[in-house]
Amino acid sequence: MENIDKQKAIEDETRRIKENVSRIKHRIAIFSGKGGVGKTTVSVNLAYSLQLEGLETGILDADITGPNVAKMLSIEGDLILLDEKIIPFEKYGLKIISMANLLKSGQPLIWRGPMRSKIINQFLADVKWMDLDFLIADLPPGTGDEILTIGQEMKPDYAIIVTTPQEVSIIDAERAINMAKQLQIPSIGVVENMAGFVCPHCNAVLEIFGSGGGKKMADDYGVQFLGSIPIDIDTRILSDKGKLIVLEKPGCEVTNAFKSIVKLIEEHYINELKEK
Ligand SMILES: Nc1ncnc2c1ncn2[C@@H]1O[C@H](COP(=O)(O)OP(=O)(O)OP(=O)(O)O)[C@@H](O)[C@H]1O
Ligand SMILES: [Mg+2]
Repeated sequence: MENIDKQKAIEDETRRIKENVSRIKHRIAIFSGKGGVGKTTVSVNLAYSLQLEGLETGILDADITGPNVAKMLSIEGDLILLDEKIIPFEKYGLKIISMANLLKSGQPLIWRGPMRSKIINQFLADVKWMDLDFLIADLPPGTGDEILTIGQEMKPDYAIIVTTPQEVSIIDAERAINMAKQLQIPSIGVVENMAGFVCPHCNAVLEIFGSGGGKKMADDYGVQFLGSIPIDIDTRILSDKGKLIVLEKPGCEVTNAFKSIVKLIEEHYINELKEK
């Protein structure tokens, strides 16, 4: 009897995920092999860059044990439940869900993979995303259970692999590209972050982590290169304050880099429509 109930609950959740996900036009998974390369920075700034283009966007923080989306967007408070649905936070029109709002600050979450997957399923099944143009999933580093669950349940139509130009990051990003291929995510793009630093004193470009590695990797794997984002002190300072460079500094180099990434993504979907 208990097994039948369990099976029923799983089937019911699968149905709710399908229904919820079918209302979202495009789903992007952002991941990398290596940690700290800027996945969350890319996720939140890309989400707002899409929102600024008038596209309804949501962001799902799929980093269950190290959720940083809420912090980077300065979102505090508990999640609200209404009629068995979770109401996402909204900031400047963007819909956001993050495990951070279910945890006390500093509280560690020691959960094995299946528990983390369960939470992601619930974020997909029970959050009131409504009709979105884009849902972006910000993933933890590596190729663990979270990306598997997102791949199988959210069914991303685009994978963005974030890398920095240095060799150790590229090697891990190659694993991420292969993971995206295994998960049969139909389109894959590479963003190279922290590519060069413009010295504020002399304007010289210092290639701290090297350069060109992201583009070369994308070419080698036959996937789209979406662009490079330079190392920028304001990007880091603002994100520590829960603010975003694309909203605070329109026209700066980093904001322009995100604009150009959005343009390529939009062109990609337009071309895809033409091919159909
Ligand atoms: N282009 C950039 N210029 C300056 N600082 C940056 C840039 N990109 C990211 N950072 C900073 O680097 C740090 C790590 O970025 P972020 O948290 O986005 O990486 P991540 O890949 O999501 O990390 P994790 O693997 O832990 O999830 C943050 O402090 C962020 O502000
Ligand atoms: Mg992160």
